[in-house]
Amino acid sequence: MRFENRNVTLKDGRKCVLRPTHPDDASAMIEYMKVTAGETPYLLRYPDEVKFTVESEREILGNILENEKSVMMMAEVDGRVAGNCSINGLGDKRKIIHRCSLAIALTQEFWDLGIGRAMLTYLLELAKEIGYEQVELEVVEGNGRARRLYEKCGFVETGKHFRALKYEDGTYRDEIIMCKVL
Ligand SMILES: CC(C)(COP(=O)(O)OP(=O)(O)OC[C@H]1O[C@@H](n2cnc3c(N)ncnc32)[C@H](O)[C@@H]1OP(=O)(O)O)[C@@H](O)C(=O)NCCC(=O)NCCS
Repeated sequence: MRFENRNVTLKDGRKCVLRPTHPDDASAMIEYMKVTAGETPYLLRYPDEVKFTVESEREILGNILENEKSVMMMAEVDGRVAGNCSINGLGDKRKIIHRCSLAIALTQEFWDLGIGRAMLTYLLELAKEIGYEQVELEVVEGNGRARRLYEKCGFVETGKHFRALKYEDGTYRDEIIMCKVL
């Protein structure tokens, strides 16, 4: 969906714009996905699993922009992608239409500046505006930074996915399920 840009002043004084992600952001988004996938073990993909082409990414971003039940928000600092976050409905069946899921990631250079908190705050407002009743997410066990942010924004733990991720070194990690009722 389309939504108003929001300007935020970061903890280091720089300006950040939170805005809808646009099809023209396709190549920057692919690069951002590769970088974030390599910087943290807490996202689903390894960098070589980011296989989107600019054309396929353009199409995906265009569809999300026109979808009134989905949000794809970009944080831009000095004209660069600092991070992205999204909400998507879990489905259009009437029994689950009240639920949406949230995802967020910033490139490491932009951690701890307040962008995560600002994006989540705005995204929760938009989720409510759309009509969702609750926002759900999964956070990999050990990702204290993300968990802290979610708790500060009012999410609570509601369960676990046992051995949700298996890493190339053969180790497993659980995912903690969190939810915020709007
Ligand atoms: C998790 C992530 C989104 C957090 O975003 P961020 O912009 O770094 O977070 P913020 O700067 O907004 O900090 C949010 C709050 O958490 C606190 N916080 C951050 N790291 C913390 C830590 N290690 N211990 C305690 N508190 C911490 C901050 O002080 C801040 O609190 P405040 O708003 O009261 O000042 C970001 O670090 C990231 O993209 N990580 C990699 C990808 C990832 O893990 N995504 C989540 C997948 S579930």
